[in-house]
Amino acid sequence: MWEVDTPTLTTGADPFIRQPYERYSEENHQAWRALYARMLPRWERYANRHFQQGIDSLCLDPNRIPKLDDVNRFLRPLTGFQAKAVSGYIPSFLFFDCLRNRQFPTTVTVRRLDALDYLPEPDIFHDVAGHVPMHTDPHFAETLVRFGECAHTAAEIVSGIRDEEVRVHTLTRIIKAMARFFWFTIEFGLMRSPDGLRVYGSGLLSSFGEIEHAIVSPDVQRYPIQLEWAINQAFEIDHYQPLLFIVDSFDHLFSLVDQLEKWMKEGKLSNVAPGEPIVIEQDLKSFLDRSAQ
Ligand SMILES: [Fe+2]
Repeated sequence: MWEVDTPTLTTGADPFIRQPYERYSEENHQAWRALYARMLPRWERYANRHFQQGIDSLCLDPNRIPKLDDVNRFLRPLTGFQAKAVSGYIPSFLFFDCLRNRQFPTTVTVRRLDALDYLPEPDIFHDVAGHVPMHTDPHFAETLVRFGECAHTAAEIVSGIRDEEVRVHTLTRIIKAMARFFWFTIEFGLMRSPDGLRVYGSGLLSSFGEIEHAIVSPDVQRYPIQLEWAINQAFEIDHYQPLLFIVDSFDHLFSLVDQLEKWMKEGKLSNVAPGEPIVIEQDLKSFLDRSAQ
């Protein structure tokens, strides 16, 4: 939609920008309106109740792209979280570190009105309507912070490895395990509820087609989450997910993050199965920069 210079980010750099609100066109707002209107009945049917409460407490405008400052006015008193504008990709250590600081890097661009279903990368609808309502829940917020702390644990662990090849191998596998965990929970997680399975993952909460597919399609395998399975399970991002994992509650999710960190310290993440996602150089570097400090 617009060009914003992306600075080369290093650990400690502030990745945030101002949301250039005046640059949204009427068509951009129309895209938001259309996305929001068609998701609303699906949220009522398939989203978990914490998300529904979150949508209510954020007072999101169904008709206009939200101003992040307005969103934060409602969000911050609830959990301390804030949605902070970024111009694009954030290297993974910095992203996780932002979570630790209760800052959620938020994309400010919106998908095109004539391509509402096509989403190669996050946009403001995914981030603000899919993720941020979950950040109003204290248990979920604590889980994200805890996950952010795991990134520091990872950096610390690899800083103690002298051999460079072993260090890079170990770190690559740990990042892979963390990315898989994030994918199968925060992005695509399902949760039990008295009314049956409900969605809490933001990739599903922001997808008109997949939110329903995730709950009703016979083509989806749905299993109670097992940490050792999730961290060894490859995933692909360009089609509906054929395999989803179920948690019992956010307390359960929090305990899984604890377990993840414990296993990381014990070396159990250092040799997870190869395969997707590919860990890119920039992500590795973001952790290595931190561990060199
Ligand atoms: Fe996301």
